[in-house]
Amino acid sequence: MSRRAVVFGAAGQLGIELVRELQQRRFAVMSWDRTQVDITDATAVQKALADFDAEVVFNSAAYNQVDVAEKEPQAAFQINALAVRNLALACRQVDAQLVHFSTDYVFDGTARHPYVEEDPTHPLGAYAVSKLAGELYAQAYLDRALVVRTSGVFGPGGLATARGNFVELMLRLAASPNPIRVVEDHVASPTYAPQLASRTIDLVERNFSGLFHIGGGTPSSWFHFARLIFDAVGLQPVLLATNEREYRTPARRPKYSALSNAKMERVGLDPMPSLKDALASYFARRPALASARKS
Ligand SMILES: NC(=O)c1ccc[n+]([C@@H]2O[C@H](COP(=O)([O-])OP(=O)(O)OC[C@H]3O[C@@H](n4cnc5c(N)ncnc54)[C@H](OP(=O)(O)O)[C@@H]3O)[C@@H](O)[C@H]2O)c1
Repeated sequence: MSRRAVVFGAAGQLGIELVRELQQRRFAVMSWDRTQVDITDATAVQKALADFDAEVVFNSAAYNQVDVAEKEPQAAFQINALAVRNLALACRQVDAQLVHFSTDYVFDGTARHPYVEEDPTHPLGAYAVSKLAGELYAQAYLDRALVVRTSGVFGPGGLATARGNFVELMLRLAASPNPIRVVEDHVASPTYAPQLASRTIDLVERNFSGLFHIGGGTPSSWFHFARLIFDAVGLQPVLLATNEREYRTPARRPKYSALSNAKMERVGLDPMPSLKDALASYFARRPALASARKS
């Protein structure tokens, strides 16, 4: 019999891919976007899980506006932390496994190696604190929660969301004649959403719980990532390297937040593909989505 899975935050970049991949693997899937179930509504979450008799619950809903969170930390905490408590309590009631996603921003960026799961956390701002609190809530109420930290997520779904993603931002900027300035002194692990979805479901199918890092296969500065994007589509805008001193943002971010996938690989999952290959996959799917939206 197929396993019963639910996905909250199903209209986001990762949510779309989780639903697609779960369906492909013959899970019985129920999914809700924010307009259908708002995860800050504990009663709605409880009812959704009880009605569907879920066995595994994926939470891909999140408040991801890192800079805006400095002005409205309550909103970030409500969605990224307190709503995860709602989910954890509801999962406990129906004995379902919670699969929750967190961020490389729980670290302060002072490490000299890609971050492993055992590294100490030290969030630098309101968004990061709220995400770390979400991890703790997931683990506080459940013995078998799976928490996956990821980084710089980009997926074709970002073409249709208000927030978008870094790839779409770069393509929009390239349409204007102005030079594009991107920070070169911040390094992360840009992660392709379909591969993140697929590796996470691999962990679920193999009955893993606990904390795992799943980042893209190539740690990269945002400047280098921008260059790879333009190379992939054959654009040559004026791209200039800048740094955090010149490009100030309301939120502090870790300068170095590459994630090590060593634990994921040790338990037998395939390595994540290179950033170049991930971008090729992204652009192979993107035109189909763009034309689908026009029709
Ligand atoms: N994107 C990144 O660069 C990044 C980096 C590190 C970690 N992560 C983590 O990876 C996970 C997936 O991120 P993503 O890139 O897929 O984000 P995304 O594209 O921004 O999607 C998030 C989804 O959550 C929904 N949502 C927000 N508040 C909600 C609520 N109260 N109830 C139900 N749904 C709600 C949003 O709906 P609305 O659009 O209507 O608000 C959106 O559809 C998140 O846990 C995120 O924190 C992401």
